[in-house]
Amino acid sequence: MKTKVVLLGDSGVGKSCIVNRFATNTFDIDSRVTVGAAFVARTIEMNDVNDDTRDVGKERKVKFEIWDTAGQERYESLANLYYRRAHVALVVFALDDEKSFEKARFWIKELKEKCEKRDALIILCGNKMDKITDEHEDRIVENSSKNNFNRRRKIEKGNDGEIVEGKEEEEEEETIFVSMDRAERMANELGCHMCVTSSAKTGEGVEELFFEVARKLLQREKGGRRKTDATNNEASKQKKTRNTNTSGARANAETAVVPPRTRDEEANNATKKKKKKKKKKTATTTGGESNPSRRPLHDT
Ligand code: GTP
Repeated sequence: MKTKVVLLGDSGVGKSCIVNRFATNTFDIDSRVTVGAAFVARTIEMNDVNDDTRDVGKERKVKFEIWDTAGQERYESLANLYYRRAHVALVVFALDDEKSFEKARFWIKELKEKCEKRDALIILCGNKMDKITDEHEDRIVENSSKNNFNRRRKIEKGNDGEIVEGKEEEEEEETIFVSMDRAERMANELGCHMCVTSSAKTGEGVEELFFEVARKLLQREKGGRRKTDATNNEASKQKKTRNTNTSGARANAETAVVPPRTRDEEANNATKKKKKKKKKKTATTTGGESNPSRRPLHDT
């Protein structure tokens, strides 16, 4: 099975790093800004599970053809070329970047409106989860608010760098993290099919994400096949019924196909019949024998 995947999201959220982690299992701390779009492909193999029996069935190959789009605003109008015919859209935001979360909302809405594949799988992915450690729990926010966003904290430092009250003031930006509850709420509200977290840096969640997508696609294919089978059965049932009717209709049609005789033919037939009658009459008059040897040769 081949599937076209597109990655969308603000610049710097880690789209290229997710793709590289999946395709080559590498991470580039100095990943460059994508220009236009980049293409990568990887095929995975997975066991097809029979839903009815839960038995592991034959091995299936799923080829991901991945388009990594550029997140910079100047390339925004190009994105449509890549998501238009995508089977799967991965909308990425960075968990430590509220602005990118709002951009994700924009992309999901855009996909819902403009993606030509009405049944495309849309996945909301919160990347850079490695940045959230236990000490950051109090910085995970449930609701968007301008006050929370990019909140600044004042730190007073002494000469040796220790925090000392009333000393030199320095401003440090405090990162606010988007909570996954909030992301899930948005995913539900906008009709996404999945909401996941990942870290391209550690690799957490990346492989799992693509395998889950493959599983969903295979399941869908099976569902579709079942539906098609059901439709085909229904169609063949209807065909049978129709055939019974049609055979009647054909029989009628066959009767109807015999071309009506033309007037000339009718006339010819009539002449032939007349001639036959005449011959018969002659035979009868010559003694009721049609055998020429018994016929008198000549009337003298
Ligand atoms: P554009 O190409 O501009 O659209 O950006 P992008 O979304 O493709 O971002 P890219 O993958 O280039 O990553 C941007 C920066 O984020 C790089 O410095 C990466 O090293 C860093 N980065 C990406 N993923 C992660 C992650 O999971 N964790 C951390 N800590 N950093 C990450």
